Amino acid sequence: MTRKILVTSALPYANGAIHLGHLVEYIQTDIWTRFQKMRGHECWYVCADDTHGTPIMLRAEKEGISPEALIARVHAEHSRDFAGFHVAFDNYHTTHSDETRFYSEDIYGKLKAAGLIEVRSIEQFYDPVKNMFLPDRFIKGECPKCGAKDQYGDACESCGAAYAPTELKNPYSAVSGAKPELRSSDHYFFKLSDPRCQEFLRRATRAVCENQPEAINKLQEWLGEPGENKLTDWDISRDAPYFGFEIPGAPGKFFYVWLDAPIGYMGSFKNLCKKKGLDFDAFWGKGSQAELYHFIGKDILYFHALFWPAELEHAGYRIPTSVFAHGFLTVDGAKMSKSRGTFITAESYLTQGLNPEWLRYYFAAKLNGSMEDIDLNLDDFVSRVNSDLVGKYINIASRAAGFIAKRFGGKLDARHLNETFRAELPGLIEAGEEIAAQYEARDFARALRRVMALADQINQYVDKHQPWQLAKQEGQDAKLQEVCSLLINAFRLLTIYLKPVLPKLAQRAEEFLNVAPLHWADAGHLLPPAHLINAYEHLMQRIDPKQIEALVAANRESLAPTSAAVAPAPTPEPSPQRKAQHQQATEDKTQGQAEPKAQHISIDDFAKVDLRIARIADAKHVEGADKLIQLTLDLGTETRNVFAGIKSAYDPAQLVGRLTVMVANLAPRKMKFGMSEGMVLAASDADGKSPGIYLLSPDSGAQPGMRVK
Ligand code: MSP
Ligand code: ZN
Repeated sequence: MTRKILVTSALPYANGAIHLGHLVEYIQTDIWTRFQKMRGHECWYVCADDTHGTPIMLRAEKEGISPEALIARVHAEHSRDFAGFHVAFDNYHTTHSDETRFYSEDIYGKLKAAGLIEVRSIEQFYDPVKNMFLPDRFIKGECPKCGAKDQYGDACESCGAAYAPTELKNPYSAVSGAKPELRSSDHYFFKLSDPRCQEFLRRATRAVCENQPEAINKLQEWLGEPGENKLTDWDISRDAPYFGFEIPGAPGKFFYVWLDAPIGYMGSFKNLCKKKGLDFDAFWGKGSQAELYHFIGKDILYFHALFWPAELEHAGYRIPTSVFAHGFLTVDGAKMSKSRGTFITAESYLTQGLNPEWLRYYFAAKLNGSMEDIDLNLDDFVSRVNSDLVGKYINIASRAAGFIAKRFGGKLDARHLNETFRAELPGLIEAGEEIAAQYEARDFARALRRVMALADQINQYVDKHQPWQLAKQEGQDAKLQEVCSLLINAFRLLTIYLKPVLPKLAQRAEEFLNVAPLHWADAGHLLPPAHLINAYEHLMQRIDPKQIEALVAANRESLAPTSAAVAPAPTPEPSPQRKAQHQQATEDKTQGQAEPKAQHISIDDFAKVDLRIARIADAKHVEGADKLIQLTLDLGTETRNVFAGIKSAYDPAQLVGRLTVMVANLAPRKMKFGMSEGMVLAASDADGKSPGIYLLSPDSGAQPGMRVK
């Protein structure tokens, strides 16, 4: 029976680059949809950029472009990265589209008609300088629990406490630095506390998380015991200025980004329907027989298992068949980190010349359909790909192909092929259905373990018959041709079993095997007896560990190498994770000639240095100075004139506009060319000459004047 299946991955935000963490999700979903298509089902895979919200609006403003221009650029970057990893969406759309607007208004209108929308006035922090309400993440201040400074408005990174932004001590706006004021404004709420929603969610959402016990536990926790009403109404509106869709009949009010984001799944599919002439309602209409699956990270389960089904149900649409939540990526056992170079972007992986199918294989070998985090261990990555993929699988083809080409003109032949094959390599054909069931259940790890066990079995057959020995012996031609023909057939079966994971490699293998694109059903039979194959070209290189070193180096931000950067952890009792990171940072080898570490200083000594984020407003050559560049540094509230000895490494024109870090309380110094009122921070070797000078820059989001500590 052909199934109708619609599959989505979460929509990545349009203000950041795709990194290896994201790829856990997109590669996983891509493998699953490719598998379904190979099985002959009607399967559509759609996604889009998630384009709305305050961070995107502010980011565009900072870059001096319109939000539309920003999201268009990022859309192109994301599409390029996904294509680079062979993630084959049937449609990659944007939430800033007519289709998504249409369904947002439609769903909102239906919820309103059902009496599930309520308007209430709420008090919120307002930035009187920027003239906007501030999302929690854009308010900072001191933690009400532990007093840690510069904490976000929703939770303390130091002690882990969660709170409302209004509880922060000495709050300030992260956008302008201004002291925020409380102002009230009307907000639109989706009444999740309504008995209809509670009753529906209790009844329906367990099924949505079926086979994921961790997800069901979470839901149970959120919903509480029957009779308990733990769900609170959901605020779905935001005040102007906001980049998003204006709410019909509510001028100056916009849909909160999380309202239209999942509706973007519908929007993208509707857009695909127009291109392909598909029937939208057959997939989204109430009573639809099609299957609908959302692959998501565990961080967004709440939105997908509660808000989203409740919206769909009460607006008269079908609900998802299942939500498949996965865990987070760690690299070498720790959170991805920019200073360690493990915050690896998709683009850097590809531009460093690494093969995307190495990563697809490694992720697949780790994914088992659960919500556990998955770890990219860089040493294990190298050895697994080299030993399994190249050493076991590719090796089968490379050992047999040469003889078939040179000795038999590319022609396969074996006595009673089917019988001989089944007798010599038992179970290889039968394994197909078992492996299919493991793909279906998203237990790719198990599927690949099974495939590699088959590869071991085939390699044992090679060792038993030693084709390279047969080739030297008189009168063994028929035997040699038979052994190699069996091996080519075995290689073809493994290629089918690996094709969802390695689509590009499979395509090249198909060319070599001289066969049409392989489907799963092709595993039920062997190649015709006298089949001709094409010349073999090596299908995959081994990973050289040096490539991984280069990748990590390319992603490492120049933060650590000076002695001052290794400051004690900021809190008396750092979290275990912080501890691990700190230790790691201290152990990191600096590149090139290591400078001896300076003596210990106390945190108070360190605090005497007032480090600030500065924007380079202007940069000029200095007449008569061969090392200096004259910088005008913008600190938000004032500008400083600084002479920096960076002329050997930078051209003034390339500096203007970028952010850096300066020592703001260095005593002013009179120099030959004028007064220098501070110092910018840069990394360099002990001798300050080679290989160069590297100016520090903060992560995006930092604003001129912010303190660095
Ligand atoms: N825009 C929202 C999703 C809206 S869906 C209607 C979002 N975007 S995201 O860019 O932050 O993340 C996109 C997906 O990638 C999410 O499912 C998220 O869980 C996943 N991942 C992001 N970082 C990840 C890791 N480090 N590891 C694994 N998955 C990660 O959330
Ligand atoms: Zn705290």
